[in-house]
Amino acid sequence: MSPRKEVLSGAAEVDRTTASDPDRNVSPELQELEASVDTSLRPASLAEFVGQEDLKSHLRIMLEAAKRRGQSADHFLFAGPPGLGKTSLASIIAHEMGTGFRVTSGPALVRGGDLAAILTSLHGGDVLFIDEIHRLSTAVAEILYPAMEDYKLDIVIGEGPTARSIRLDLPEFTLVGATTRTGMITGPLRDRFGFVARLDYYKAEELCQIVERSSRILGVNTNPEGASEIASRSRGTPRLANRLLRRVRDYVEVKADGVITRESARKGLDIFGVDELGLDKVDRSILNALCRTYAGRPIGLSTLAITVGEEPETIEDVYEPFLMQSGLIVRTARGRIPGPLAWRHLGLEMPATSTPLF
Ligand SMILES: Nc1ncnc2c1ncn2[C@@H]1O[C@H](COP(=O)(O)OP(=O)(O)OP(=O)(O)O)[C@@H](O)[C@H]1O
Ligand SMILES: [Mg+2]
Repeated sequence: MSPRKEVLSGAAEVDRTTASDPDRNVSPELQELEASVDTSLRPASLAEFVGQEDLKSHLRIMLEAAKRRGQSADHFLFAGPPGLGKTSLASIIAHEMGTGFRVTSGPALVRGGDLAAILTSLHGGDVLFIDEIHRLSTAVAEILYPAMEDYKLDIVIGEGPTARSIRLDLPEFTLVGATTRTGMITGPLRDRFGFVARLDYYKAEELCQIVERSSRILGVNTNPEGASEIASRSRGTPRLANRLLRRVRDYVEVKADGVITRESARKGLDIFGVDELGLDKVDRSILNALCRTYAGRPIGLSTLAITVGEEPETIEDVYEPFLMQSGLIVRTARGRIPGPLAWRHLGLEMPATSTPLF
């Protein structure tokens, strides 16, 4: 069976461009073009997928076992911050199983009927990918549960006292869900996945491999030091590593001899406002708000969001995970405060009163 790839209405096959994107000042046309490059950089098989070794070995075993039994693989849920490879893994599962790949997302499935239409058009073994699955409405989740558990679709015909429910058989399929918010997945949904994995930020060596692989695909001459400089500023995130690589490629094509070295990578990234920790303008304004505006006093998410001019969800989903993981900000019961590293990074003295309040 040759793998089919279909994009359903409203589905986000193209990478979501987040506000953390260092490209956000470029035109939508250019962003679209870059999104298509991103697709070409997307690993197609487990062998091409760099890092996440434990997860890959678990997947290998589960997929191989399902293939041997001639069944579709169990349902998978991938959680983790944006750009770590959740969508890539979903399409890899379809590729490894040699089945079709269907894509939709929580917000695109407005009514139960939207999901029912997709489920009834699946072919046996297909992988159905639901991005942002934490945003499924209750009506849609009610259709999804029996479909996941028994491959059945319950349809209600008619209204009021004459309404009756009929049960249709669905082909066996594998549901892959992705979420940036594990906390928002309800128990009943979570329990229906056979395997739940959390993707972690990548190590510098892994990001280096990703930069080297992408350089080969894009035909960019990147030496090992240049790759490691880009990797170290990529906030543990493959998507950012690829974006920074493209920014530096632009820089070396215009301002240098086309080769990405440590020196040219540094200069290029400085021009695009990415500092040595990989922080961009918004990250720095978050740290400035915490250290300078509020002088280390705990502040709530909405105050922080208003101060830096971003949506609270964007701060929580996109910026905070990395800033917290690096110890730059600390979440306490009373609000967000800067970590000791934040003061140092901004070149400020940490006031004696701003010790973490746990
Ligand atoms: N392990 C990896 N090896 C190589 N490249 C990777 C890996 N993970 C991600 N990438 C690259 O990063 C890009 C973004 O990955 P992907 O779209 O799978 O992330 P995501 O977790 O689905 O993000 P989002 O939450 O924003 O949807 C991919 O197009 C691919 O180029
Ligand atoms: Mg995705």
